[in-house]
Amino acid sequence: MIGLFDSGLGGLTVVRRVRELLPRADLLFFADQAHVPYGDRTPDDLDRLMRANIAWLDARGVDRIVVACNTSCAIADTYGWPTVRAEIFDLIDSAVIAVRRTNARRIGVVATAATIRSGAYGRRLRAALPGSEVWEVAAPTLVPLVEAGKIAGDEPRAAVAEACAHLPRELDAVVLACTHFPVLAEHFTAALGAHVPQIDPALVQAERVAQAVERAGMTAEAGRTRYVTNGDAALFAPNVARITGEANPSVEEFAAPAFEFDGRA
Ligand code: DGL
Repeated sequence: MIGLFDSGLGGLTVVRRVRELLPRADLLFFADQAHVPYGDRTPDDLDRLMRANIAWLDARGVDRIVVACNTSCAIADTYGWPTVRAEIFDLIDSAVIAVRRTNARRIGVVATAATIRSGAYGRRLRAALPGSEVWEVAAPTLVPLVEAGKIAGDEPRAAVAEACAHLPRELDAVVLACTHFPVLAEHFTAALGAHVPQIDPALVQAERVAQAVERAGMTAEAGRTRYVTNGDAALFAPNVARITGEANPSVEEFAAPAFEFDGRA
């Protein structure tokens, strides 16, 4: 079984990609919606949430953890991943592979404020692609819009345009470095133009886990996805259908663990 986690609905864009490549795998997706958005939390709080999510999945016996949250990967870049039984797939590693394939040299990265503050994307891309130029831009308003279902229309269009206004005009590629952003792809096209390729790291992330499963030999699984949220399951289910295309998904509620947070950053 493959475990995935995110702060919320964004992780569904990764579930969709993994499902496309592994139709027979069992998936367990955890959405930490009690604590969304992650983007304006402090590094210490994000580290605790990341560890709690990984421990939760590991305790449920998953063989692999596909991290479906860039912000958690950005925090792990500084704090490290916990040592668990399951193999962890880091989304920033996948993003670097995806960018390398495009030969892009002038690269835009749009992500949450916490991801941008960590500097993880810029460090990893520059190290992997010497001579490249990387512009990192925070888009703090986008995750709340996607969580509220405001994906179409003027409000998300203006919010994406505002974020992209901080990028230079000539770019070889832009990385959608938050898993909530691929559902806003049309607004990125409107803001940057269709000539700027949008890189969604989820495709390579799915490819890497599919290769690992193939190498290990697939165990007999039913191709079932369990969706678990510590938010509202009734609100979550229609979003599963909308983002993954799965009709009548099985969504369960799980009580959020109590944390003492530092407050918003
Ligand atoms: N979807 C997450 C990411 O990829 C986090 C969004 C948030 O909760 O701020 O960064």
